[in-house]
Amino acid sequence: DSAEKEGFEHFTLKEIFEQPKGVRETLMRRLNSQNEIVLEGVTLTADILKDINKVYIVACGTAYHAGLVGRRAIEMFAKIPVECDVASEFRYRDPFVDEKTLFIAVSQSGETLDTLQSLREAKRKGARILSIVNVVGSSVARESDDLLYTWAGPEIGVASTKAYTTQLIAFYLLALYMGKLNGRLEEHKYFEMIEALKLMPEKITEVLDQSKEIQKLAAAQFNNEKVFFMGRGVDCDIAYEGSLKLKEISYINSFAIAAGELKHGTIALIEDNTFVVAMATQDKLYEKMLSNIKEVKARGAYVFAIAKEGNDQLTKTADEVFFIPTTLDALTPILSVIPTQLLAYYVSALRGNDVDKPRNLAKSVTVE
Ligand code: G6P
Repeated sequence: DSAEKEGFEHFTLKEIFEQPKGVRETLMRRLNSQNEIVLEGVTLTADILKDINKVYIVACGTAYHAGLVGRRAIEMFAKIPVECDVASEFRYRDPFVDEKTLFIAVSQSGETLDTLQSLREAKRKGARILSIVNVVGSSVARESDDLLYTWAGPEIGVASTKAYTTQLIAFYLLALYMGKLNGRLEEHKYFEMIEALKLMPEKITEVLDQSKEIQKLAAAQFNNEKVFFMGRGVDCDIAYEGSLKLKEISYINSFAIAAGELKHGTIALIEDNTFVVAMATQDKLYEKMLSNIKEVKARGAYVFAIAKEGNDQLTKTADEVFFIPTTLDALTPILSVIPTQLLAYYVSALRGNDVDKPRNLAKSVTVE
């Protein structure tokens, strides 16, 4: 057991630190020397794509949160409307699925029952099925028309970390691939994204090199029972994932909201020393986030902000700021999620929890 952990105290921490590798594998295996995307298991052609007028992304837990980011990427680069649903809801709401639907299942294990049953339901209705899966040969993988493996390697910690970042990479690749195939993505945007994606493994390493900062923050906050995550745009998706990670392994009653929704209810809960994690990586939403941060600060919150390098103004507004390296705004999730994973990990470890096997949770949920 300890040999497998390669010097890390827990699998979860080891897996967080394996992300540069997982991301590199998932990405570089799909790029040829001309920077073209080659998706081995995907047989989606321009002709098939022409007839697709809607995409559904369906998954559970962390995979669902990857789907939220995937939705933005597909809408942005392939310009096809996308809906994203948790599998246990999708199955029971009689969704508008037909032969013109592309159904995307996302699953680390490929065995989550609700995801698998949703896939079968979509297939019955005539949808084309594409899956993003980590476990080779799993049920979801076997029942799909198109298959995009994440190359995260085996994930042992119940809280998903490296599977999530590799799912993000799979979505970016797919969105760019589809945008090129249907001609809705301009060439220069495509190459700009590819170049930026290729820098990701290195940039993740830069973020991991600052893990001591998060460790210090965790030491100061691990007993705080009032925690909120907030963000706008794609930062909102990361707020959801960061909050889930924290509650899964620390057992803190944390939740996430779209920052613009603060004043419609949640701000009533903010009091002295409420710990707020504010995601503020998006240029066009930066000013709006600054004012949300001021709003919670004025009510006594302790604000930890996550922003891109260079946004120094935040150091005057938030109590603490973690800077991620600069990149395209569409790609910040790959970097900004890492400090939230580290925070969840260190808080959980400081509380003396069983980090790799949190109570009541299972790695793969094969019951309804
Ligand atoms: C369980 C795990 C989560 C995971 C979810 C979906 O709840 O504890 O970490 O995100 O299932 O699992 P899947 O294997 O379908 O990605």
